[in-house]
Amino acid sequence: MTSRPRIFSGIRASGDKTLGNYSGGFRQYVATQEHGDAFICIVDLHSITTAYEPEGLREATLSLAALLFATGLDPERSTVFAQSHVAAHAEAAWLLSAVTSFGELRRMTQFKDKSEQQEFISAGLFTYPVLMAGDILLYQAALVPVGDDQRQHIELARDVAERFNQRYGDTFTIPEGVIPDEGARIKNLQEPERLMSTTAGAPQGVVRMIDRPDVVRKKFKTAVTDSGSEIRHAPEEKPGISNLIEIMSVATGDPIASIESRYDGGGYGRFKDDVAEAVVALLEPIQQRYESLRDDPGELRRLLTVGADKARATSEPTLRAMYDRMGFVTPGAAGSA
Ligand code: TYM
Repeated sequence: MTSRPRIFSGIRASGDKTLGNYSGGFRQYVATQEHGDAFICIVDLHSITTAYEPEGLREATLSLAALLFATGLDPERSTVFAQSHVAAHAEAAWLLSAVTSFGELRRMTQFKDKSEQQEFISAGLFTYPVLMAGDILLYQAALVPVGDDQRQHIELARDVAERFNQRYGDTFTIPEGVIPDEGARIKNLQEPERLMSTTAGAPQGVVRMIDRPDVVRKKFKTAVTDSGSEIRHAPEEKPGISNLIEIMSVATGDPIASIESRYDGGGYGRFKDDVAEAVVALLEPIQQRYESLRDDPGELRRLLTVGADKARATSEPTLRAMYDRMGFVTPGAAGSA
């Protein structure tokens, strides 16, 4: 076997994926193929923790699979699968809930934010970080590429792994989050103090990965900028422009310093137009591939089935070890003593 690190990440099958998801998620997943053995999971079990429509979930799961392959995930090199296809995830969540405290879960800021938006606060919304910890730990993942908003959940996964290892013996690799230096917190274009997300904030400030070019251009044209006219990356002082600079960097791969010097004295208007064009150029080929993949749900299902078979085989030994170390009786073959 090679010494390529094991990589795991998950993405929810709900809502339209945004430029923020691209930056903290998709972009990193594709990059990992070059140096690791990646498992990318469509976390459909997570999607039921807030209000949803069953038909919408089926649709969102296949659309997300299409989008993952369209951004460059290669099914030959990366394992892309749906969480619900691998029963170990639900089982691991239950087992790990024994080593996760109520107090730890209560401190999760994402639960606080999301529960405020719900009329019905499901128990699953509260325990979701345990399911997420299991996702990662089942694969003995060393690296977990995510955006900055998942930092606290990764910390919890590490704490849970350490507690389990201490209580029941060494079982899990302690995972590390991989958070990009730039673009780890893409903000809403209308409200640059707020994360870009489809669940909260002005829709006009949320760029979706499947937005048509004219829609993308309009959203950038109306993006909020700051007082002054300098194109400088200073998130506290100039949140709007700093966000646009980060988006430009994500879309083109250019470092922030070179973007600042290129637009020095150029004015906000031209800069906003250029950021929009860079994003259009980034998204157009992804959208074309997405459309053709989306037309073949049979093939998407087949690819997810292949991914699930590999994920099942990889996670099974860890799940068995968990049951065994926790003191459960190992089931024998039918008919045996
Ligand atoms: P989710 O589906 O909300 O987001 C998927 C990925 O996109 C990142 N992201 C962002 N990055 C930068 N700027 C933004 N505005 C932005 N918005 C979202 C997220 O950080 C994430 O990396 N709980 C996770 C899914 C999950 C998971 C896992 C992740 C379940 N199990 C195991 C890693 C490992 C979530 O809801 O991500």
